[in-house]
Amino acid sequence: MLRIGMLTSGGDCQALNAAMRGVVKGLAANVDELEVYGFENGYKGLIYGHYRLLTSSDFSGILTKGGTILGSSRQPFKLMRVPDENGLDKVEAMKQTYHKLNLNCLVILGGNGTQKTANLLREEGLNVIHLPKTIDNDIYGTDVTFGFQSAINIATDAIDCIHTTAASHNRVFIVEVMGHKVGWLTLYAGVAGGADIILLPEIPYDLDKVVDAIAKRSSQGKGFTILAVAEGAISKEDAALSKKEYKAKVAERKYPSVSYEIAAEISKKLGSEVRVAVPGHTQRGGSPCPYDRVLCTRLGAAAAKAIMDKEYGVMIAMIDNKTKRVPLGEVAGKLKTVDPNGQMIKEAKRIGISFGD
Ligand code: F6P
Repeated sequence: MLRIGMLTSGGDCQALNAAMRGVVKGLAANVDELEVYGFENGYKGLIYGHYRLLTSSDFSGILTKGGTILGSSRQPFKLMRVPDENGLDKVEAMKQTYHKLNLNCLVILGGNGTQKTANLLREEGLNVIHLPKTIDNDIYGTDVTFGFQSAINIATDAIDCIHTTAASHNRVFIVEVMGHKVGWLTLYAGVAGGADIILLPEIPYDLDKVVDAIAKRSSQGKGFTILAVAEGAISKEDAALSKKEYKAKVAERKYPSVSYEIAAEISKKLGSEVRVAVPGHTQRGGSPCPYDRVLCTRLGAAAAKAIMDKEYGVMIAMIDNKTKRVPLGEVAGKLKTVDPNGQMIKEAKRIGISFGD
């Protein structure tokens, strides 16, 4: 009998269900007796023993379904060693649930924080396999994460829609794309949507340069400008502040986000109208795109093989279009960021896209 547990943790994204289906189908086709326990709402379910035994019907018809059939929640890694409000030791509680169910392995789907906790559980002696999920594409050690491509499609659609209205009204438009720490999604959607200016957390911007880029387009007879701005875009001035000072400044910000602040500043400098569009969580929603369905089916099947080979403590990554088992200890806690001097940025600059630097 093979007994596995599964959980989805952190912000959801498209293709979580597709990935779980891949794992279970990959096991069910090769193992005579299989029990799959689904933990509800991420690590919470593992801590508090909220789980259900899943059957094959739970995994049928979910390849195309967005969200997660298990539910998700954010359980910050830094609080994992801190007892809960009733004094419960969360790590011990997770271990107890795992041992009570006599699991052979826990399959954990999530982003960076989730991966750090998966690594902690590995260090505590549990068999874990991590699958790299996030629209941010910021997990170190894999070329791509699932959810990223689906989110690019949605953010690009948003920019495409804004393009037509911006052109009709001769307006400057900002489309705010998700990503507080990294700018992969903004970069890809910005390039795919033909944005004129792209602002990323990794490349602090100079507002004068942004304004110059808009003015240059006007002088060339182009009445509108599209900016793709990451949630975590930061000015050169703010990037020079300490983390603490920056946090305090953001807490005092009178705008809902950096995009509105940039819009107000551009408007003041150019005397023109600037509108902001925020697709927000739509970027994580809906059905996974075909690329993500294929990616997750492959990652899921590769995870099933790793379980059958009893090789645990790994993330199933996609590197050079091949699935690979990457030891969690080598990647947990590292972030994959956009290289400001990388080829894609240079090529984008070559065709005239401004990064405000
Ligand atoms: O990590 C995924 C992500 O969607 C980020 O791009 C975004 O900054 C953040 O989560 C939003 O978090 P929440 O869903 O908690 O608002």
